[in-house]
Amino acid sequence: MSKKRILSCMQPTNQLHLGNYLGALKNWVKLQEEQCEFNLYGIVDLHAITQPYDAAGLKAATQEIAAAYIAGGIDVSKSILFVQSAVPEHSQLNWLLTTMTQVGKLDRMTQFKDKAGKNKEKAGLGLYAYPVLMAADILVYKATHVPVGDDQKQHLELARDIAATFNHRYGQEYFPMPETIAVGAGTRVMSLRDGAQKMSKSAESDMSRINLTDDAETISKKIKKAKTDPDALPSDIKGLDNRPEAANLVNIYAGLNDISAEAVLKEFGGAEFSKFKPALADLAVAKLSPISTEMTRLLNDRAEIDAILRKGSEKARALATPIYKEIFDIMGFWS
Ligand code: TYM
Repeated sequence: MSKKRILSCMQPTNQLHLGNYLGALKNWVKLQEEQCEFNLYGIVDLHAITQPYDAAGLKAATQEIAAAYIAGGIDVSKSILFVQSAVPEHSQLNWLLTTMTQVGKLDRMTQFKDKAGKNKEKAGLGLYAYPVLMAADILVYKATHVPVGDDQKQHLELARDIAATFNHRYGQEYFPMPETIAVGAGTRVMSLRDGAQKMSKSAESDMSRINLTDDAETISKKIKKAKTDPDALPSDIKGLDNRPEAANLVNIYAGLNDISAEAVLKEFGGAEFSKFKPALADLAVAKLSPISTEMTRLLNDRAEIDAILRKGSEKARALATPIYKEIFDIMGFWS
């Protein structure tokens, strides 16, 4: 069997949070240990401009995501870190793929509906067409596996759909169907203030999320203040049904400790939140504060981060260029 070609990306918008870590980054780190053809991890700055953003801060935000990747365990001798805008083939393939994307499918994307809100008519075309660029990010490397959180599954389905349309239209099995890898208890980390909302960078209240840059005191405070219900933790996983906040905290504990939610309940079943929350806070601090300390250290030398990104982007481009050329030829362009 051929080796996996792994690719995943994050947007340089605001700080990374616990959802990004448990849903994506932590799994990327594990995948470095598998024998893969490549592990490519991108910072998708072209996606970050689809909503109002701070142009003066974009470069720094890009460096900060790179620092978070490395501090979180990405080893640049095993993985390639790159910046999307430094590999122009992403944008070039994006256009070609727009011609293979049905508007009806884009209309169904829940992330667009969430982000555009009631103001759909005024939303930018970039925000609407965003999943096509995401498909280009994946297909320009013919990636086979994409480790992401639950919220990206629908975009991955569209990427497969676009790949299948290309293969059908041009009569060859050119693109492999990229598979989603969403594993572990952290694929959908919810807000600490509302168990029905996903933890997100854009939520108004900073108390709703744990940022990777939060210090120990802040992490403890946020967990202790997290919304819960009055009951003790159940001993059985079914007892978490209809208790979204309790389920979320149990899943966070499980994700941080790399165990199942069942194993957490084995240990804490019957415990009150007054006992569970301090244990969760200690665990979160133990796992996350080394990351934030390392991020701060790395960000003292932004030139070094730039050097890593420059080298990684060159490697990524060397992978993308021949694939883009083949696509161009298959589509019949003059060159
Ligand atoms: P982004 O930047 O919003 O999120 C980065 C990664 O974090 C995961 N994630 C979560 N996982 C669990 N619980 C949460 N609350 C949570 N919030 C975020 C996301 O699933 C994602 O894996 N469209 C993508 C970026 C992208 C991409 C790509 C990803 C662009 N091109 C190609 C993979 C392949 C996004 O906005 O992720």
